[in-house]
Amino acid sequence: MGVVASAPAKVILFGEHFVVYGEPAIVLAIDRRAYAKVDTRNDKRLYLRSVNLNLAGYFENGNFKIEQGDVKEAIMKFGPVRLVVEKILEKHGKKEGLNIEINSTVPVAVGLGSSAAVVAAVTTAVGALLGVKMSKEDVFRTTYQAEKIVHGTPSGIDPAISTFGGTLLFQMDTGFKPLEVKTDIPLVIGNTGVERSTRVQVEKVREVKERYPQIVEPIMRSAREIVLRAIEALKENDLETLGELMNINHALLYGVGVSDESLEWLINAARKAGALGAKLTGAGGGGCMVALTRNERLEQVLAAIQGAGGRCFMARKTDEGVRIERT
Ligand code: MEV
Repeated sequence: MGVVASAPAKVILFGEHFVVYGEPAIVLAIDRRAYAKVDTRNDKRLYLRSVNLNLAGYFENGNFKIEQGDVKEAIMKFGPVRLVVEKILEKHGKKEGLNIEINSTVPVAVGLGSSAAVVAAVTTAVGALLGVKMSKEDVFRTTYQAEKIVHGTPSGIDPAISTFGGTLLFQMDTGFKPLEVKTDIPLVIGNTGVERSTRVQVEKVREVKERYPQIVEPIMRSAREIVLRAIEALKENDLETLGELMNINHALLYGVGVSDESLEWLINAARKAGALGAKLTGAGGGGCMVALTRNERLEQVLAAIQGAGGRCFMARKTDEGVRIERT
């Protein structure tokens, strides 16, 4: 039987990258979830299987044995999951072997926070299976630790949204504040299909910032002003302003070098089809873009992004963060 938990993916509307340097960002949880099913075993193995990635294998006495897929990929993808599971077992003096099955509807490595969603779901499911009390704060902290291994210097925005859900104003030093968004925010997400590493993209921005501090610092301040203005626009349900702000935000991201040709194609196609605004979302360098559109234009924008080569879907915000699906 076992325990099943799930956590949502996310889309950053404003402030990615600049958030790593302490600027605010606005992020929403979307209706795409990662699921983790956890069960105990009779031996001491930590058996991991990812249905969507076609990977399977187990850790035993510090060694990894592959059963399905590429060993390097499996070690990389399972690394953060192994880390959180071992941390929970160690902290609570447990020694159980576990079966963990991951099934995610979130495209991987394209800026939608798939790794944080998987780890938050696994953490919650393991905690519940072992009877360990874990608050959402605990899940967030544990997931954040794992993100540090994957990303190097993550801001914590991905684990926060996967854990708490909703729409958050996130800032590294002050944490997050839920934003009340009463209206619908019609979004189309376009996936370039180009997978990339968040760590590499964050490093790129660091290099540009170090080479041109006087130029990049004002860009960061502009990014902050965009977020502050966007909070007002969200309150007023002013989609037009939000769209314009997304376009400006994208220009700043382009300026620090994290857009690429595949993203520009999709973004331009969305704008031409009448989107109110469009920008890359997440780490860039490929990955996903997001377009804001009026409801009556959704189909057109979707078709245009598809026509430009993107795999796309309409995204709805979800208020639910990580949750237990079945015990
Ligand atoms: C990744 O989803 C968002 C980045 O800002 C990195 C981070 O905040 O950890 C690029």
